[in-house]
Amino acid sequence: MYYSEEIIEEVLSRNDLVDVVSEYIRLKKQGSSYFGLCPFHNEDTPSFSVSPDKQMYYCFGCQAGGNVFTFIMQMENYSFAETVKYLADRANITLPQPEYSAEVKKALKEKEILRNIHKETAKYFYYNLQSERGKVALEYLQGRKVEEKIRKLFGLGYANADYDDLYKYLLYKGYDEEFIAKSGLVIPRKTGKGYIDRFRNRVMFPIFDVHNNIIGFGGRVLDDSLPKYMNSPETQLFDKSRNLYGLNYARTARENNILIVEGYMDVISLYQAGFKNVVASLGTAFTYQHAALLKRYTNEVVLVYDNDAAGIKAALRAIPILSSAGLKIKVLQIPGEKDPDDFIKEKGPEAFRDLIMKALSSVMFQVNVVKAKYNLENLEEKIQFTKEVANILAKLNSSIEIEVYSEQIAEETGVSKQSILEEIKKLRAIRQKENRKINKSSFSTNESENNLKSSSQQKADEKDGLYKAQLNLLRLISQNETIYQKIKDYLSFSEFIDPVLSKAAKLIYESYGEGRSIEAAKIINHFENLQEQNQVATIFNEEKSSVKEYDVEKAINDQIKLIKRANIDLKSRATTDIYEIQALIEQKKQLEKLYINIISG
Ligand code: GTP
Ligand code: MN
Repeated sequence: MYYSEEIIEEVLSRNDLVDVVSEYIRLKKQGSSYFGLCPFHNEDTPSFSVSPDKQMYYCFGCQAGGNVFTFIMQMENYSFAETVKYLADRANITLPQPEYSAEVKKALKEKEILRNIHKETAKYFYYNLQSERGKVALEYLQGRKVEEKIRKLFGLGYANADYDDLYKYLLYKGYDEEFIAKSGLVIPRKTGKGYIDRFRNRVMFPIFDVHNNIIGFGGRVLDDSLPKYMNSPETQLFDKSRNLYGLNYARTARENNILIVEGYMDVISLYQAGFKNVVASLGTAFTYQHAALLKRYTNEVVLVYDNDAAGIKAALRAIPILSSAGLKIKVLQIPGEKDPDDFIKEKGPEAFRDLIMKALSSVMFQVNVVKAKYNLENLEEKIQFTKEVANILAKLNSSIEIEVYSEQIAEETGVSKQSILEEIKKLRAIRQKENRKINKSSFSTNESENNLKSSSQQKADEKDGLYKAQLNLLRLISQNETIYQKIKDYLSFSEFIDPVLSKAAKLIYESYGEGRSIEAAKIINHFENLQEQNQVATIFNEEKSSVKEYDVEKAINDQIKLIKRANIDLKSRATTDIYEIQALIEQKKQLEKLYINIISG
């Protein structure tokens, strides 16, 4: 649904956020803002704030934030269009017949066609599985003890062995070649014209979004050949970083947590065993978007990973990402060389429930991983161990947690609690100093910058740092036009790497470019889905900082360099051309000399 900017603006201006929020929770004025108990998470002390001037809300506890549209979307679980309708009614505004721009119309139409193609394909695969040709696949699934009821629920199917079976079928059903190609379900022939099927002779797992639309497929071979799994490529419908396998069922499972496993079969097997609150990432590493998505449906996740090096690595990488979304995290390691599917078949649901009960907190899991690296009998190694452990604990916000964990670690390792606590104190002092020195500007205050990190953590943090740099820079630009004027020639909006922030940057640059000031609510309205709106809202919801100008200038320069460096790295990863690589190396060198005077120059 698409409404003109004028109408959106009218709906916005005639629904005062304080009034709207007050229909749900009690607000109390405090300075220039209103405060109340956050409706989006459980709390005893009010951390939900509403700014009448900015017409924005922000929760300091769960980081929910946005304008009156996002509030209603979140509160009522409405789509954007439903929200516009609701708020228009509330303000007695008659909505015009929806008005689509040509571009939006085309995109909507294409998406609809792609959804139909996927639905048709899933039906076809499902039919195949029950047919004579699909007998091998059916036997395979029966061999893996997948019940009929579950096959149906997950829409499992079979892609025939012929090389263009599905392609022909979709043509026969009347779909244009152009859209069949865009669906990613076929690939162009190497020689000659036309397409062949992407998936052949595989058991097919349709991938659903949370609204139960089929947006892609995973396909497994029936034997030991490789590659074992193939997945749909990313398309207009299918964004792997924003979807999780099984979430369409897990989100309504009404359990107090969601289990995260590695594979399709693990999801299916656990579901069949009665654990409906289970999801898997789609053969990709965990992203911030995944974490934010999960946070909409639960407060706690249990990482269920295989007990091997790869599984442990994946868990360590996922922890900081999940925790940045405010999720409580537990880690469950399947004993032996088993995956969840094997385990549940061998030991049964009760044994698995037992494992969930005994799952470690992510902190103790991290500590155990560190512990395995050192021989605590050796004095040097014991010191090193203590440092690393302190580094993990120093990131916790609650001193009670730090106390409790230090105690437990002391008991388990014989390292004294006192020395862990002292080490944490030291780290915090270093961190405070660093924070004061550089980027206090608008960096969130509870984030840690410390110098003792395992390499996997360092990588995750780098990504995290890159994201923060983009966010902080956009914050500063949107708060202060001078900063925009000073840096616009050095950093274009297209250099923002995060797609949502890049789009926001484009809108902010355009506003300034056209001599307009930045209006948060208007910019947020260019994003139709709630997740993106929330993400964009974080640009606008931090108060102006009162840091010294010099520090801001330094921070800005650091952040610009970080972003530009990441762009160069991306380009160099994408090329094998030696001249281009040399040019990129040169660019990187030049970048070190870049310094933009913001205060004086
Ligand atoms: P099986 O039990 O052997 O059917 O598989 P699984 O579900 O236990 O999966 P596994 O642990 O081997 O892999 C976990 C997930 O990684 C799978 O569900 C896939 O999403 C992905 N994956 C595994 N192998 C491949 C592969 O060869 N190619 C791609 N693209 N993804 C894979
Ligand atoms: Mn498996």
